[in-house]
Amino acid sequence: MRVLGIESSCDETGIAIYDTEDGLLGHALYSQVELHAEYGGVVPELASRDHIRKALPLLDEVLSKTNLHRSDIDAVAYTAGPGLIGALLVGCAIGRSIAWALNVPALAINHMEGHLLSPLLEDNPPDFPFVSLLVSGGHSLLVDVKGIGEYEIIGESIDDAVGEAFDKTAKLLGLGYPGGPALAKLAEQGIKDKYEFPRPMTNRPGLDFSFSGLKTFAMNTWMDSEQTEQDKADIALAFETAAVETLAIKCKRALKQTGHKTLVVAGGVSANKALRKRLSAMPHVNVFYPNMAFCGDNGAMIAFAGAMRESEMQIGATSFAARPRWPLNELEPPRG
Ligand code: KG4
Ligand code: ZN
Repeated sequence: MRVLGIESSCDETGIAIYDTEDGLLGHALYSQVELHAEYGGVVPELASRDHIRKALPLLDEVLSKTNLHRSDIDAVAYTAGPGLIGALLVGCAIGRSIAWALNVPALAINHMEGHLLSPLLEDNPPDFPFVSLLVSGGHSLLVDVKGIGEYEIIGESIDDAVGEAFDKTAKLLGLGYPGGPALAKLAEQGIKDKYEFPRPMTNRPGLDFSFSGLKTFAMNTWMDSEQTEQDKADIALAFETAAVETLAIKCKRALKQTGHKTLVVAGGVSANKALRKRLSAMPHVNVFYPNMAFCGDNGAMIAFAGAMRESEMQIGATSFAARPRWPLNELEPPRG
């Protein structure tokens, strides 16, 4: 079965085709970063309009790269939430319409389940059960994963998501949008241990995170410094080190609490090299990541999640619902 995946929950339009026999056949991604850069963040209405412009040309690009025709699509999976309502509505409407026109089944996919399963696209996928660390612009979650749709959230951020903290800290250091990758790059020039940032909520039990204080700490440190380029890099490194160390401490705790030996990291921040290095150095733990191309939002993870939930696909539905909020623990194992 060839599943078309459509992702449009935020500022990236992603299209992919996943074959349940042959794996990922092709994918294409269009990032709206330049569109939103001058505003310093995502402008929802502009995002929705751009998804409308890009979705079908991207589909044509994937079809031509894979030498397939629209009639070769057997099913459609589209992101229905969580995310920006207008952006989601575009993907839902296009996904449902393509399915209706081709008379093939379709399914609404949870974006965070897409991220969670993205490391399973790799050649050597992890076995269940595992602990999933989901780190993106909107979420920081620790999930006890027993199987597809068996998700127990065991830790989450009580304020900013870690990606959001990267972005906000980058912004106050004048690094533009989206700041995460830029801050990580600048941190490479930083002098180690020049500043010591706190590791929030690690000195008390539990698996929840809090990242908003780190951003404030970064701002105060910047204000008190001489504000040279070197200070900027040193603060970037101190922030990144504190965020990474905090995530690593909580991952270790989550593994101990669940008894699982496997850690699976996903979401935009899983592209962070310092995080990968730190987690992979943990003893007695097998750590899995998505391909660098599939850490951020993409269509491949949505097509894959759809393929895993093939039994739930519905043909002929003429209505759909987008869900700006859609907690992962509301999902259930695939029916049938
Ligand atoms: O998963 P994603 O593409 O979108 C959401 O679902 O939110 O994650 C985007 C987030 C942004 O906050 C971005 O700054 C962050 O991931 N990010 C990074 C890196 N690459 C992306 N943060 C730190 N280091 C990186 N290399
Ligand atoms: Zn995402």
